[in-house]
Amino acid sequence: MAIRQIIKEGDPVLRKTSREVKEINTRTEQIISDLIDTLADCGNGIGLAAPQVGILRRIFVIDMQDDSGTRVFVNPRIVETEGSQCGTEGCLSLPGLWGEVERPARLVVEALDREGTPFRLEADGLLAVCIAHENDHLDGVLFRDRAKGPLRREVQQ
Ligand code: NI
Repeated sequence: MAIRQIIKEGDPVLRKTSREVKEINTRTEQIISDLIDTLADCGNGIGLAAPQVGILRRIFVIDMQDDSGTRVFVNPRIVETEGSQCGTEGCLSLPGLWGEVERPARLVVEALDREGTPFRLEADGLLAVCIAHENDHLDGVLFRDRAKGPLRREVQQ
């Protein structure tokens, strides 16, 4: 287990496109468990993508901090979107910054889990927002790029 340093905006790695995972091996398992540990260590984040810890692989983890546990997405593809919702977003790579972002109201994502088993998940509400946000990280997109107007600077409660 390892807690990795979260890369902040300004580092060019956050703007790169991540590569597909070709096979789930011990290296992939290590990345996944480091992402889970690092997200848990943050306390206030609900999602973390591999490029945010400097690893350009198409992996992210989500923990909605409810009883659903931590979800792992390897090689995710958003295959369906529907409607829109607008909400306030932040990002562990842009600490203290918040902005209003429009996202799909509902989406369907296909991915592999941490064992490499394919799954399909339908999400709405905050989970859909989080999946869309984390998926963007894999393509070098930050929520700032999609925010309506300038970001607000606020210290988190
Ligand atoms: Ni983020």
